[in-house]
Amino acid sequence: MDNIILPRHIGIIMDGNGRWAKKRLLPRSIGHARGSKVFFDCIDYCRDLGIEAVSFYAFSTENWIRPQKEIDAIISLLRDNLVKISKQAQKNTRVRILGDISAFDADIVSQLKEVEEKTANNTGLIVAVALNYGGRAEIINAINNIIKDKSNDSITEEEFSKYLYTSDMPEVDLLIRPSGEKRISNFLIWQSAYAELVFMDVLWPDFKKKHLIEAIKEFSSRNRRFGGINEEDIKEYKE
Ligand code: IPE
Ligand code: IPE
Ligand code: MG
Repeated sequence: MDNIILPRHIGIIMDGNGRWAKKRLLPRSIGHARGSKVFFDCIDYCRDLGIEAVSFYAFSTENWIRPQKEIDAIISLLRDNLVKISKQAQKNTRVRILGDISAFDADIVSQLKEVEEKTANNTGLIVAVALNYGGRAEIINAINNIIKDKSNDSITEEEFSKYLYTSDMPEVDLLIRPSGEKRISNFLIWQSAYAELVFMDVLWPDFKKKHLIEAIKEFSSRNRRFGGINEEDIKEYKE
């Protein structure tokens, strides 16, 4: 990984669990179970590579329209994985939850809050998990909190960002979506305003370290201008 520019914050849309299962004539819940294993593997890959922050899209505000049995399977998987998530504390990882988790059962809410609090002062990799998360809902939630908090009638972008679930995290540099879909599906829409997008055909349960490295190499090869122009093109104006 010599001469590679690392993204500070990677966003990952963990998509394709259902198709992975269908291809194998397995129930969709098995695809979700396999996907959750890959989630933990991917945390380790990010830590090994020295990434600062990684955000995973696990359940969207739109996913509630799925059949109740699928929702129940996903929530039960979440419950089964809570201990493993809290064990991240031992690895100096800071766990953040993005989204309105009050929609989940009280035992899940309290364990998620506990792991956030327990890991708040850790200084290693930041792992954010988006649960009942939607970018639009996040923005509306921020606006409602601003209305409650603020007496002045204007706000800067920087101040606004502090009201988002990602408050003290860097902006998303690299957004990865496996599964072949080429859309953002309401994930970190504010934070990804200038992210490099990498869409990959691999289904999430098949996602390996080599796919993450491939996406990072692609990111590193992009010419990020943020609205400006390249250094060599500025010369034209320096006569
Ligand atoms: C992503 O996999 C997991 C969640 C949205 C919870 P999908 O369940 O969307 O898998 P596909 O897109 O149907 O293959
Ligand atoms: C996005 O995937 C949400 C998560 C991965 C949690 P979806 O499968 O729900 O997105 P669409 O429906 O294909 O846009
Ligand atoms: Mg999907």
